[in-house]
Amino acid sequence: MAALLRHIGGTVVGAAPLAVAFACAPSFTMLWSVMRVATAPLPIRVFERCDVVLYDLYQSFVSFFYEHWAGVRLVFHGDVLPSSAQAATIVPLTADGTKPLLEVQAHGAAAVGNAGAASAAATATAATGAPEAENVLYMSNHQCAADWVMVDLIALRHGALGRIRYMMKRSLRLLPLYGWYFAMHSCVFVRKNWNHDQRGLLVVLDRFRSRNMPIWLVVFPEGTRFEPTQKPAILERSKLYCAERGWPQFEQVLPPRINGFRGCVNGLRNHIDAVYDVTVMYSTSNDLASGRTVRDRTPSMLDLLARRYKRIDIHIRRHPVEALPMSDEGIEQWLVDRFQEKNNRIKSFLENGTFAIPEDEHATFVLPQLVREERVNPWRTFFKSVLLVATLVPFVALEKGRKILFYFCTVGTLAGMAVSSRY
Ligand SMILES: *[C@@H]1O[C@H](CO)[C@@H](O)[C@H](O)[C@H]1NC(C)=O
Repeated sequence: MAALLRHIGGTVVGAAPLAVAFACAPSFTMLWSVMRVATAPLPIRVFERCDVVLYDLYQSFVSFFYEHWAGVRLVFHGDVLPSSAQAATIVPLTADGTKPLLEVQAHGAAAVGNAGAASAAATATAATGAPEAENVLYMSNHQCAADWVMVDLIALRHGALGRIRYMMKRSLRLLPLYGWYFAMHSCVFVRKNWNHDQRGLLVVLDRFRSRNMPIWLVVFPEGTRFEPTQKPAILERSKLYCAERGWPQFEQVLPPRINGFRGCVNGLRNHIDAVYDVTVMYSTSNDLASGRTVRDRTPSMLDLLARRYKRIDIHIRRHPVEALPMSDEGIEQWLVDRFQEKNNRIKSFLENGTFAIPEDEHATFVLPQLVREERVNPWRTFFKSVLLVATLVPFVALEKGRKILFYFCTVGTLAGMAVSSRY
């Protein structure tokens, strides 16, 4: 009974910010539309600049709740990204909590310092003096609907919220208001069929380059979610797929799809600084029967906001774009190697509690053991959240506002769908 009440309470606590986020969608997209019209006579880069600022506004609101309301600890492993300076307070951790190692990663070259046990409680911010975020092709394992929230929380730490664009499945273009807005924000819709997807992808990549747009282009190369608690059927198919191609077998991730990723690398090689390879682990528990550590069910967006997850571990490896092969076969092999690493990292995490793997010994610019909690100052996102909610006020408080809102919701949604259905 108590558990049930707690569950219901949690759902209410989690649903409240979600409801406000959805409620702000019409007034926000209206604001965006006004901006679009106002910037129409000006050079296109003015519009692109404003678009980034507005995307940052909405996602700051989203991030505020996932960062602070959800009460989840975010523990980072691997590379400290070059733009960390402006963002987060970094608290070094070790698995046993005794010997914190503080390493500050400067752009490209390592600057490593042992903070010693005495400063266990001390916090430090990375002072690398490289505050601008990079242009990035961002790839991650894909497990659940909350994965895009993780992109937000990482981008928040690097001043990159406004530059996030997704490669997303084509059906999402029909989401009311959001689908249209994603299209306007230069997201790419794909149906996982290269013959169909190629043209649309090239159009958007070309736009990124020709307008010199700031990007974190997010791709989930697995192409579909891999829910770790429902593995068998999907793993059987994955086995066949890998065997056909002479690839290694994966158990903790799905085999990557090559074409979309390769298209992005080829199209963006002169525009991006790096590829970020991100591995997310939501939570694990001990399986009593086998005595092993196993991955738990992944969270929904509501689960996180309802404070049902305590800690999320995220591994990031930064690959400078120069490190990527030039040939098509080379890129394929490179991606398969990254997924094999990802697979091994997750296995290592389950078996040994660390993402470190032997392959990492070859990484020249970072120590893979670096584990740290990164906390963000709430004020960073709070004011923007207030600003976003404020856009809603005239439409709720005024009779006329409510009418406009109603028409925008109905007519705007249909018009938006009509536009985005052509993508
Ligand atoms: C766990 O650690 C042991 C000892 O260092 C190592 O031999 C083993 O390969 C590790 N497991 C994984 C999955 O990396």
